[in-house]
Amino acid sequence: MSKSSRVVLVLGGAGTVGSGIVKGLLDKGFKVAVISRDSGRLEKLRTSVSPNTKDNLITVVGNVGSEDSAEQAKEALLKQVGKVTDIISSLGFSWWQGGPPHTQSLKDLHWVMETLLFSTFVSWKAFFPLVRDNSDSSYTFITGGAGEKLLMPGTGFLTVGAASALAFCQVLREEYPEVSCKFNQVKINTGVGTPERMAPGYLNHLDLGEVIAALVERRSPSHAVFTISSPADLKTVLLEGNP
Ligand SMILES: NC(=O)c1ccc[n+]([C@@H]2O[C@H](COP(=O)([O-])OP(=O)(O)OC[C@H]3O[C@@H](n4cnc5c(N)ncnc54)[C@H](OP(=O)(O)O)[C@@H]3O)[C@@H](O)[C@H]2O)c1
Repeated sequence: MSKSSRVVLVLGGAGTVGSGIVKGLLDKGFKVAVISRDSGRLEKLRTSVSPNTKDNLITVVGNVGSEDSAEQAKEALLKQVGKVTDIISSLGFSWWQGGPPHTQSLKDLHWVMETLLFSTFVSWKAFFPLVRDNSDSSYTFITGGAGEKLLMPGTGFLTVGAASALAFCQVLREEYPEVSCKFNQVKINTGVGTPERMAPGYLNHLDLGEVIAALVERRSPSHAVFTISSPADLKTVLLEGNP
């Protein structure tokens, strides 16, 4: 299947990590679809991609975080693109430092779990059937590392949410050992920023996007976990893969 006939759905594609992946895929010649709740974010995404690839970017306003709305978004998407061959899930948030647990409410914890875990589960359940039985297809999860130690004071719920997403990916690998679709995970153990918002040791979202696009293009073996802890790891994953 040629790249121009592959349609990659990037869940969270309007976010920091997702937008780098979208650009990387478009630059490689894939058709890319993005669902976002915010039409403004989709417009910003459209202006950030290479001008000659804009026609290959399909955007849908929708919410993949609840069962009914994810089904609606799927229907609207399929009307536009007809099929989806590959999926990348990059849902969540960039950073959370609300404070130590005793200062937080149950509502705060709900928000963290909804954003990192529930949306990942609900969208997987809605969209996975589109690719499940095709050995040419792939489903790739982007996760943070939960770390054995506290990232820094006040980030505890971020660790709880990230650990839940990691556990969910592990459960899927173990529950579906024989699935036809390639099933992979990219675990990012450091910060990711746009060129305007970088910090020491951070990954540029465009460099990360290029590597993820290469993994999709390469059709990596299934059930692999690629770990990226520093900018140097990007090169290793690009050249060798490191499952
Ligand atoms: N940024 C980092 O430093 C970093 C580092 C390591 C790992 N990661 C991981 O990368 C993933 C993405 O992070 P990010 O930095 O790109 O975050 P982001 O900029 O906040 O983008 C997250 C995206 O997730 C979507 N989303 C969140 N909750 C949703 C819900 N309930 N329903 C539908 N869509 C929802 C948002 O969609 P809308 O467009 O609809 O708002 C947004 O586009 C996360 O899993 C994070 O743990 C990030």
